[in-house]
Amino acid sequence: MRMVDLIARKRDGHELSKTEIDFIVQGYTNGTIPDYQMSSFLMAAFFRGMTPTETANMTMAMVASGDTIDLSAIEGIKVDKHSTGGVGDTTTIVLAPLVAAVGVPVAKLSGRGLGHTGGTVDKFEAIPGFQAEISSEQFVRQVNEVKVAVTGPTGNLTPADKKIYALRDVTGTVNSIPLMASSIMSKKIASGSDAIVLDVKVGAGAFMKDLDSAKALAKAMVDIGNNVGRHTMAVISDMNQPLGYAIGNALEVKEAIDTLRGEGPEDLHELCLTLGSHMVYLAKQASSVSEARSKLEEAISSGRALETFKAFIAAQGGDASIVDDPSKLPVAAYRIEVKAKEAGYVSEIVADSIGTAAMILGAGRATKESEIDLSVGLMLYKKIGDEVKPGDTLVTIHSNRETVDDVIESIYESYTIASGKVERPVLVHAEIH
Ligand code: URA
Ligand code: CA
Repeated sequence: MRMVDLIARKRDGHELSKTEIDFIVQGYTNGTIPDYQMSSFLMAAFFRGMTPTETANMTMAMVASGDTIDLSAIEGIKVDKHSTGGVGDTTTIVLAPLVAAVGVPVAKLSGRGLGHTGGTVDKFEAIPGFQAEISSEQFVRQVNEVKVAVTGPTGNLTPADKKIYALRDVTGTVNSIPLMASSIMSKKIASGSDAIVLDVKVGAGAFMKDLDSAKALAKAMVDIGNNVGRHTMAVISDMNQPLGYAIGNALEVKEAIDTLRGEGPEDLHELCLTLGSHMVYLAKQASSVSEARSKLEEAISSGRALETFKAFIAAQGGDASIVDDPSKLPVAAYRIEVKAKEAGYVSEIVADSIGTAAMILGAGRATKESEIDLSVGLMLYKKIGDEVKPGDTLVTIHSNRETVDDVIESIYESYTIASGKVERPVLVHAEIH
């Protein structure tokens, strides 16, 4: 087999076989296929697309390129949740203890990664004492005992995806539905869960800017999962503004605690109940999605969700008293209010640029080497549809430096204030099965 022939076949719109796709993925991973040929293939796939069979084969070839996690020592149906992008997305911190509280085993492998705020692991590390680097024995034992554990990057999962994604990033081939779907799903499948709930974001701050493309990405991922025996569904949720009020690591932990107490922001609360009820249903801990939702509501109102969060924090060496006293979380030295200059209604908060504002404060990593400041971030006081008057606080900056003109500028850039009334956005646009 020659790579040049496979590139030409893809260029001409033919379907490649499993053997051919294995050849490409293995060859690129082990270095026998050079960057220039792989780039050319990716661009051909970008324009020609890939069939569902090719996409599933691409996914499984990337899974086979590295280690896979075996969660079979954990009792019950393990359900994972994945959100495609999004800013200040606190859902994982809420959902892990929330669904665990109704009996769903949560075995969460999470990255640190680059981005506006830290990854899930960084956020949990805002809890004093919390240890994310736990042994695989503890991980399994803890999920069996308290139903939830979170661990940092383990093993060498999907090295093919790492290499291909890095190449796509510099060759204009990120935004291809089959390439994105196989990239995301390869990582989910390698992490070993039995079922997967996807939260596909749509809007200005997301990979997918319009509902049709978000639905197409969701469908491609759902088909891959179901084709390879992992029960998968997707919820399409709005990302025309960040979810909740908090963007930043400790601030999001505090927001998650409020939400687990039933006192969180409306949109975050609603999305967690929606995603959570599908997780509970796929884990067969309820006989319908609406029964699952009632169970989650009960876990919040009875305090069981918070108790589970405490047990989970304590099991990983963290100080569980932060749940009753969040002032023990890292706190930034300065609070600076950003005020509205004009009257009107908030019509847009570009999640990307407000996320960048949080990142330049130090809440996220610009490069792999950057250190995260867990205490800093932003609290949004006005969201889409809210009325504002000049002088009203839009955002409070939590900072460890006194001068934050660059951050303030990014915040003003991300907010659009319209003169007339603005509807609040729909939060959940569709479900894809
Ligand atoms: N996230 C991924 O992991 N892969 C993609 O291709 C796009 C987003
Ligand atoms: Ca948030």
